[in-house]
Amino acid sequence: MKNFNGNFCIITYGCQMNLHESEKIAGILSDLGYNQTFDQNNSDVIVFNTCCIRENAEQRAEGNIGALKKLKKSNKNLIIAVGGCMTQQKEYAKSLHEKFPFVDIIFGTHNLEDFKELFLKKLQSKKPVISIEDKEGDVREGTPNLRNSFPNAWVNITYGCNNFCTYCIVPYVRGRERSRAPQDIINECKSLIKDGYKEITLLGQNVNSYGNDLQGVNFAYLIDEISKIEGDFRLRFMTNHPKDFNEQLIKAIANSTKTCKSVHLPVQAGSNRILKLMNRRYTREDYLDKVDLLRKYIPDVSITTDIMVGFPTETEEDFLDTVDLVETVKFAGAFTFIYSKRKGTPAATMDGQIPIEVATKRIVKLIDIQNSINREQSKGYKGKTVEILCEGFDDKKKMYLGRDTYGRMAYFSSDVDLIGQFVNVKITKTGGISLIGEVVK
Ligand code: SAH
Ligand code: SF4
Ligand code: F3S
Repeated sequence: MKNFNGNFCIITYGCQMNLHESEKIAGILSDLGYNQTFDQNNSDVIVFNTCCIRENAEQRAEGNIGALKKLKKSNKNLIIAVGGCMTQQKEYAKSLHEKFPFVDIIFGTHNLEDFKELFLKKLQSKKPVISIEDKEGDVREGTPNLRNSFPNAWVNITYGCNNFCTYCIVPYVRGRERSRAPQDIINECKSLIKDGYKEITLLGQNVNSYGNDLQGVNFAYLIDEISKIEGDFRLRFMTNHPKDFNEQLIKAIANSTKTCKSVHLPVQAGSNRILKLMNRRYTREDYLDKVDLLRKYIPDVSITTDIMVGFPTETEEDFLDTVDLVETVKFAGAFTFIYSKRKGTPAATMDGQIPIEVATKRIVKLIDIQNSINREQSKGYKGKTVEILCEGFDDKKKMYLGRDTYGRMAYFSSDVDLIGQFVNVKITKTGGISLIGEVVK
């Protein structure tokens, strides 16, 4: 049904899951006849796909939604929609409507697949359409997709999360964990590879618990089956949870010629006391054992992580345990965050909230240590030739870029367009985390 003319623009905040969900909203709008643009000023429909994992993600979205009031005044027909994790919180959806009455559609994560119906309803009504479902539904297949991440393709394997880490809002805004049927996932991967995608990234809040709600399948099985698909492609997945990351899975990764030698294994903290308060359900010793096991099967594996500082009651000693763990594991990369209080989570009402100045000092130190580890690791790349999947062109650097199997980014020049191709790149310059090289035949 291509009934409409005009442009749409989607602004996404948050994780890869949200990026992919924006591709689904784009698919729905594109099926209606709209064209995608990345220019808000030239849009007839603007969608915000929001995130509420930390306060700053919310503030950014709010600022940008507020700024659209002017645009709405100059273009009366402009439709503004806000969805995602922020608006899944009913209370928040209500206050958003009060604050920004010019927003036309407000929806949540549980009814993203209904976006077409909500959109058509809005076209027939002067009033805003506000629709937030309390409960997550069953897994729904068949939502169209307009993918924006070639040569990578995101593929959902689970939705929701059952872990309830005490700091985290995700289980409240994404509902309980649901796994997609293995055949639906495998068929999607097959068709993506047939269409020329060179990298598949499987998505779930905790991919390691894939299949817990199904019969006779688990994540290792999925890796095995996807690896059997013919074609030249790479397989990645995120995110892992250390409590469910086991030897069977490590073997499946090690045996798969398609799976990249890169594992994102969020540790969050190095202190057992804090890990317990976070309800992570592993100790630092468990974590270090899993790292050892992973390195036993895949000696050159690169391990990246997420770390949080300033969790309630975190002492200097607890923080030094985190520093010690970082220095012991020598991560290939770490995303570091200052704990952000999320209303409705158990940690929000814990005593001993840490002042922002203390947390800031800690994160600065942590980033410094991680940077020096990365600089050291980068040196080892000099003179090496690595296989890069070319992902794009950097307009500022005027160079192509892509990643190796370890997830390391490299930049290189080329007269011809290499996007979507595997290229051998000899690394000539190493700095912080990214590398510079030249294409070799
Ligand atoms: N499901 C994934 C990722 C969830 S969100 C996992 O369990 O690893 C990504 C990261 O955001 C988390 O790993 C955590 O480090 C961080 N995060 C989550 N809630 C946070 C909060 N309230 N404050 C600061 N960082 C948070
Ligand atoms: Fe949040 Fe924990 Fe679930 Fe990750 S595993 S999404 S951090 S509750
Ligand atoms: Fe944010 Fe929702 Fe992802 S809270 S991190 S967009 S699951």
